Amino acid sequence: MLYSTIKLLLFKLDAETSHNLALKALKLTQFAWQWFDKKHTDPIEVMGIHFPNKVGLAAGLDKNGDYIDALGSQGFGFIEIGTLTPVAQDGNDKPRLFRLEEHQAIINRMGFNNKGIDHALKQVKKKHFSGVLGINIGKNKNTPNDKAVDDYIICLKKAYCYADYITINISSPNTPGLRDLQHGEELNQLLYSLKKEQKVLTKKYGNYTPIAVKIAPDLSLDELKNTVKTILDNELDAIIATNTTLDKSTVEQHPHGNEQGGLSGAPLTAKSNELLIQLKSIVGDQIPIIAAGGIMSAEDAKQKFYNGATLIRLYTGYIYHGPKLIDDIHKSI
Ligand code: FNR
Repeated sequence: MLYSTIKLLLFKLDAETSHNLALKALKLTQFAWQWFDKKHTDPIEVMGIHFPNKVGLAAGLDKNGDYIDALGSQGFGFIEIGTLTPVAQDGNDKPRLFRLEEHQAIINRMGFNNKGIDHALKQVKKKHFSGVLGINIGKNKNTPNDKAVDDYIICLKKAYCYADYITINISSPNTPGLRDLQHGEELNQLLYSLKKEQKVLTKKYGNYTPIAVKIAPDLSLDELKNTVKTILDNELDAIIATNTTLDKSTVEQHPHGNEQGGLSGAPLTAKSNELLIQLKSIVGDQIPIIAAGGIMSAEDAKQKFYNGATLIRLYTGYIYHGPKLIDDIHKSI
């Protein structure tokens, strides 16, 4: 009820302004949310980490870690901040975020706008959120793909001690060439280097921080098989499926349906589920799958678990339905 009233006002503004305003308002009213704080308890051990519940916040909403406690009060068991790059960058020109309300969808081409890994880590050090914190890392736009590994290593080294787990984002469609890192020798070299560095850091700090890889829903079956083989061969800890899709055929009639960028929300559900089913059939129980992509209802969440997810994460569904979606999911799983 409260959220639907706020949403009515916010959805009158352009998408990025309302997004920023909503986060600021959430932070300001955080003390009030704590009264409602439901602390859903449904614990599970994944990647050797104790998760208080199975429903998390996907990357991209709190890119800089500025709102961890405020978002934590909404009932998420885990929050992933980022994508963070070594150096702060502005991202693409505005407008770059579009709501397609009739489709319960978003198209974004933000382009990793973020204040840089150092800023985010300062925020992380101040957090009180007791759930699991994932830090999602990427490369700067100006870093060519043959130097991408350096950016990921810089972020991995910096974030290693502050994250419960780290996500390698190689699937955002809005950084030119990033998705090429999902394939072949480029992927192999990247993951090999990151695992090598993880071993060094484990020794140095005496603790193991798992690394997950986030993939796109647009991989063909053959591409998926090859990508997963490389992920498993390099002994990564989990796969996050999926990021946004470049396939906008379901929304092309909408005035914003052909905007450049990645599509998320209801039109992504089926595509993301299809990939999840294929992924589960390849991965089996070798490593956990963390599912995202078009979870707009408790039913969608149940479907993700049925299709093989161990944990799930929300983004667009949370924008459209607020914390009620988290409550509904917890009631139904
Ligand atoms: C995203 N997403 C995203 N993912 C990521 O790994 N790093 C990022 O910086 C972002 N940024 C981002 C911005 C916006 C505006 C949106 C809508 C999405 C992708 C997100 O985490 C998620 O994987 C997809 O949106 C699919 O889930 P939903 O939104 O359909 O629930």
